[in-house]
Amino acid sequence: MEERDLQKLLSEMSLDEKIDQMLQLNGQFYSEDSEVVTGPMKQFGINEKQINQAGSVLNVTGARNVKRIQDNYMKKNPHKIPLMFMADIINGYRTIFPMPLAQGCTFDTDLAKEIAAVSAREAARAGIHVTFSPMVDLVRDARWGRVMESTGEDTYLNCCFAQAMVEGYQGEDVGSKDTLAACVKHFAAYGLPTAGREYNNVELSERTLRDNYLPAYEAAVKAGCEMAMTSFNTINLIPVTGHSYLTRDILRGEMGFEGVLISDWASIAEMVNHGYAHDKKDAAYKAIVAGVDIDMMTDCYTNNLKKLVEEGQISEELIDEAVMRILKLKNKLGLFENPYKGADEIEDERAEIPEEHRKLARRAAAESFVLLKNDGLLPISKDSLEKGHRKIAFIGPYIFEKNMNSTWSFFVNTEDNVTIEEALKANGYNHNISLAKGSTILSPGDYVPGFAYNSYCDATEDELNQMRLEAVRKAKEADLVVMALGEHREQSGEGASRADITIPKVQMELFNAVYEVNKNIAVILFSGRPLDIRDINDKARAILEVWMPGTEGGNAIVDVIFGHTPPGGRLAMSFPYSVGQVPIFYNEFNTGRRLTQDNERTRCISKYLDIPNTPLYPFGYGLTYTDFQYSNITLSSNVLKSDTAIEARVAVTNIGNLAAKEVVQMYIQDLVGSVVRPIRELKGFKKILLQPGETQVVSFEINCEMLKFTDINMNFVAEHGQFKVYIGQDSTTENEAEFEFIK
Ligand code: GLC
Repeated sequence: MEERDLQKLLSEMSLDEKIDQMLQLNGQFYSEDSEVVTGPMKQFGINEKQINQAGSVLNVTGARNVKRIQDNYMKKNPHKIPLMFMADIINGYRTIFPMPLAQGCTFDTDLAKEIAAVSAREAARAGIHVTFSPMVDLVRDARWGRVMESTGEDTYLNCCFAQAMVEGYQGEDVGSKDTLAACVKHFAAYGLPTAGREYNNVELSERTLRDNYLPAYEAAVKAGCEMAMTSFNTINLIPVTGHSYLTRDILRGEMGFEGVLISDWASIAEMVNHGYAHDKKDAAYKAIVAGVDIDMMTDCYTNNLKKLVEEGQISEELIDEAVMRILKLKNKLGLFENPYKGADEIEDERAEIPEEHRKLARRAAAESFVLLKNDGLLPISKDSLEKGHRKIAFIGPYIFEKNMNSTWSFFVNTEDNVTIEEALKANGYNHNISLAKGSTILSPGDYVPGFAYNSYCDATEDELNQMRLEAVRKAKEADLVVMALGEHREQSGEGASRADITIPKVQMELFNAVYEVNKNIAVILFSGRPLDIRDINDKARAILEVWMPGTEGGNAIVDVIFGHTPPGGRLAMSFPYSVGQVPIFYNEFNTGRRLTQDNERTRCISKYLDIPNTPLYPFGYGLTYTDFQYSNITLSSNVLKSDTAIEARVAVTNIGNLAAKEVVQMYIQDLVGSVVRPIRELKGFKKILLQPGETQVVSFEINCEMLKFTDINMNFVAEHGQFKVYIGQDSTTENEAEFEFIK
């Protein structure tokens, strides 16, 4: 439809019709069998007409279902404006890929883009038009359950992934049958809730907000993201959903966002709970003034905006502005011409996941796994198994667990997943292997409420004892034990903050019982967040973090532990030494009394009495099945000017005897600034494959854009002075060179 036709359509719509376009309802208002609910279901007073005129719906999927609902809706809609279908497709629709934090650990944005494109194709076939992804909230606190949805603790890395995911979802044409409109979330800084507690207030300086937390949203906007979602939290004690400075001045004004701004679930009404709005009418006022276009799952807009217009508190232009953005998005999606968009019953209802989707999921999982520790125990040689030189016991609840999907995987058939047990059989590992569950995932007394179901320990003490005894017996008979342990999938995600981020107690009892009889343990660790793993770190000989790996998790794990595929991940979020350190992140500040080797026995130094300052495993870290050697850094010049660039080079050599990938990382440190500067910041990374003995020269360009930050006067500038560049395997590399920036 041409823009003028949209303007004409808008002019013909009644005020009620326009306001109802700004209402988004959950699926059960349109489909009795719609089960997915992703927020608190509060009864609110809307009528049949408002339901029939609501502009969009979330959590309805299925080509046949969507077409039926769309047909009914269009029949009743006075101006035949199509309904827009949205859902959280954050790590796949039917094929479930590694959770976003795991994707961040791949340091492979092309892979993330490919995953987003496949996810979009599957979801579009199921009738979805918009996905509430990418989530680009910067995360530094592993107590917060939603760290799993982010690509990690680094601003630059999150910007790279934000762009890749938006491009993957939206493709060349967001109106095509294979694409989805993307919705960047949660604007803004939702990843910094005080004390790591879900929905809690966010406190940070505007400088930290601008330099660390906002850039990834801007990267999504610059990539053409069609929608943005406001966050539940406050910033500067103002709920973001009513925070005009953030939403109008920064998001729309400075970043140039012209798309649709949607509230998060009920976040408009929740401004009353915050004590920022007197009632729903006041909340509606604050949200529409802040430029929120769609009210997700409350009746604030639909039952109050008309009154606000009639009372002259707001102009109808504010409504028209919002509705025009909604109509433009529907038009970009091609819904006026084809209200079904990509819905295709045959594709959507096919019995099997396409093989190429499985291959991508399997490859992506292996690329996301982070080998935290390995004294040589891994990889296990298949040959030694077949010749009987090794007998392996696979022990732990995750050996048999189908559901290795992140909590944001609602539309999946978990039966499509491949467990470790199934993968062992399917890949020919049948000799000299024993299996034992050993324990449940959750401990007796644990209770984890979920969106769809609640989780708890479903075994009695006696049953647990029997399981453990069987596992210990099999561990005794084996010469190597692979233990698949970790958090329950519902212990991360929304509403899943944890103050104790250890492996569930019942599994630690199993680990220690096995360790008593067999010290040769490799742990496969499942989690939605970095965990406090001190209790296994000294005892296990190898630890492979696999996050929530999705549909092909079992196959990818077997591929990696038997050396078919080396683990490709590097930490996108620090593994704390203990929860007492969080929030912890690599790009910290010197302070006035930095801890060094010389002063660690001194009292008045920035340190703890009882734990180290450093994380157990730092950002950027990850082992693989070979070692790499780095040359010193060579710089094309030691002087950088505003209109020049420096080339930084290193030679990287695979000095082992197995091919593997290395993530070469470049960090820059501004030694002195008009405000204090981080000890280093990631400004470049390249993932390269090196054959045994092979050397590659890797180069990075350094320019003044990389040096910019919000200075003492709140200007985003690069300041002249001395800088260090570090290039190495992770954020602790000491491979450095110096240069001067002269303005
Ligand atoms: C939830 C989440 C948000 C999600 C939305 C719709 O509350 O905060 O990330 O996209 O509701 O499911």
